[in-house]
Formats: sequence, C-alpha cells, structure tokens
Amino acid sequence: MNIQYNIELKPYNSFRTKAIAKLFAQPATVNELQTIISTYKTEQKLVVGGGCNLFFTKDFDGLIIHPQLFEINVIDENEQTVTLEVGASEDWDEFVEYCVSNNYAGLENLSFIPGTVGASPVQNIGAYGAEVKDTIVSVHTVDIETSQTKTFLNEECDFSYRNSLFKQTQRYVITSVVFRLKKAFTYTEKYADLNRELANVTQPTLQQVREAVIKVRQQKLPNHLELPNAGSFFKNPILTSDEKDKLITLLPEAPLYAVGNDSFKTSAAYLIDSAGCKGMRVDNVGVYDKHALIIVNYGTESGAEIKQFMNEIRDTVFYEFGVILEPEVWIF
Ligand code: EPU
Repeated sequence: MNIQYNIELKPYNSFRTKAIAKLFAQPATVNELQTIISTYKTEQKLVVGGGCNLFFTKDFDGLIIHPQLFEINVIDENEQTVTLEVGASEDWDEFVEYCVSNNYAGLENLSFIPGTVGASPVQNIGAYGAEVKDTIVSVHTVDIETSQTKTFLNEECDFSYRNSLFKQTQRYVITSVVFRLKKAFTYTEKYADLNRELANVTQPTLQQVREAVIKVRQQKLPNHLELPNAGSFFKNPILTSDEKDKLITLLPEAPLYAVGNDSFKTSAAYLIDSAGCKGMRVDNVGVYDKHALIIVNYGTESGAEIKQFMNEIRDTVFYEFGVILEPEVWIF
C-alpha cells in the first residue's frame, strides 16, 4: 500500500488551484482500495478522478484517493447490444472514442467531456440531449464506511439532472461502470447546436456525430489544459411556475423548458449573460467570453479567489433576476 504525505493537489484539479493533501493514495486494484479505506478509517476521504469538476480553497486535512483502475472488458454481446465493464480511471473521452470506432452507439453526444469514466455517473454527465444514465447498467463501488464492495443497478443510482446517489452521499468509491450500448445507430435530432452542425449530412454516422460534437464544444468551451476551468460552473436553475412568471416579466426571452409538474428549467448562461457578466474579469478570474457558464482561471493559484468571483456572479444574478445559481462544481 503506497501512501504519500503532504502532496500538492494543483496537478489534480483542472482549475489548477493549490492545496496540500495530508494523505494521498493511488490504489491500483479494488483490493488495495479496500485495504486503504479500512486502514484509514477515521480520516476524512475524498475521491479525485480527473479533477475536472472540483477545486480546492484550502488544504485537505484527510486522505485523497486517486484511483488507478484501468481496463475495458466486453462482458456480454448479442446482435443488438454490447455490454462493457470499464475501469473508473479510464479517460472518458478515450472510452467514447473506443465506442465510436467500434460502432457502439449511445455515448457519441458525450464526446470531448473531460474527466474519467468513474466520474460520469456521479453527476450524470449530459450534453446535446443525452445523459450517461441512459447507457448505464450498473455501477461497482467500494463503501467508504465499511470497505465492502457494493454494486448498484441503474435504478438504485437515483439519477437525475447532474445528480445521483453518489453525489448526494459521497459514501461510495466507484471502481468500474457497466454500460450497455447499441450496435445499430440512427441519428435523432435532439439539440439545435448539433443539428445545425449536421444539417448537410443525410444520415450521420457515429463518427460524424462525434466530430460535430467536438467542433461545437471547441467553438464554445475552453480547453482546461490551456485555460484552467471546470466546465459548466453553475447548474441550470429549476424554477417553480411562480418563479418562472416573475422571471418572464424581467426577461421575456429567457429559455424555459418544462421538467415536470410545476418545474421549469432555465439557462444559467442566459441569466449570467443578461446580467452583463459574460467576459467580466476581476484580477485573475473571469467569465469566459464565448460561454457565460464557464468561469476561467487566468493565473491564480487561489481557489478562494475563484470562490469570491463565483459569489460576485451569484449576487449579481440574484440582484438582477431573483434567481439563485447553485454551483455544479464541487468546492473544497
Ligand atoms: N447562452 C447565453 N449566453 C452564453 C451561452 C449560452 O445566453 O454565453 C444561452 C443560450 O440561450 C443557449 C442556452 O444558454 O441557448 C443554453 O446554452 P448551451 O446550449 O451552451 O447549454 P448550457 O445549458 O449552457 C449545458 C450543459 C453543458 C453541455 C451543454 C450542451 C449544464 C450545467 N451544462 O450547458 O455541460 O455541454 O448543455 O448540451 O447542464 C458541463 O457540465 O461542464 C457542460 C459543459
């Protein structure tokens, strides 16, 4: 069991903020992970995969677990579908590329999302009308409290918009994810940006959809390796119908989608943009100038500075439109 002490976390979060972890472990097998968890029973623990959706505002007085669980195995296959078990530490987009090149359909809209496979169920990643939950059969985990393995079937994961049981409880370390993908593919129009890109292609192949997604994302979203960021910083707010009516009086053009009884999703990017914050910058932190939902780091190592900037955006949007923005990114 290899435990390291006082490790700098800057390389392990895509915002590149500095913080020291008291303990740091990189288990390479499920067994090793179980041993680490049972040995450090009383320590506060945090699992970091690609670190693409979190940042640190202070040192971490506990154990950071950075799993090294790789492997892609076909566990079942028939004429219509293939079922794959994928190690949590596999790079998400390399896995999507693997699927597309093998003609396995279902994940192509989720191309070019940074992070690991193990992180994908945690916040039920989604893009261009697709959500990862629609391809997940089960999630294998180790329980942080008991160090026992536990498998969750899809319906036990409590998936919803950018949310799951794994996000709510943070009790389980995901070790692998089982996906079921389809062997046949017909493109269905789900999202304007993507349809526009594919308008001149009669029957897009998986590869063409993937390329279109990558193009759309590259046009709008900054690469965290060039300009540190953590993707969408805020969740799209869900409003009651009263809140929705109030918003329309202030912003008649605000995008609104019904998402169930008395619930309407609006666009955080639209609110931030309409509040005049797009491209705004305070010292080394700013709102990306091509997409208002992304906060970018122009050179600070301080997570506290990013958090302070986030609060300025939240205050401005609340003051202007009475809507509370909730971060989608995890802040420690
Ligand atoms: N908009 C603006 N200003 C902007 C950008 C967008 O007003 O600068 C408005 C437009 O009206 C646009 C609407 O916001 O129609 C929605 O924008 P977009 O289509 O880019 O999607 P989003 O709701 O802002 C979500 C996900 C993204 C995902 C895209 C595409 C969340 C929190 N974010 O963004 O996910 O890529 O849809 O499907 O749900 C991520 O989670 O890190 C992420 C990038």
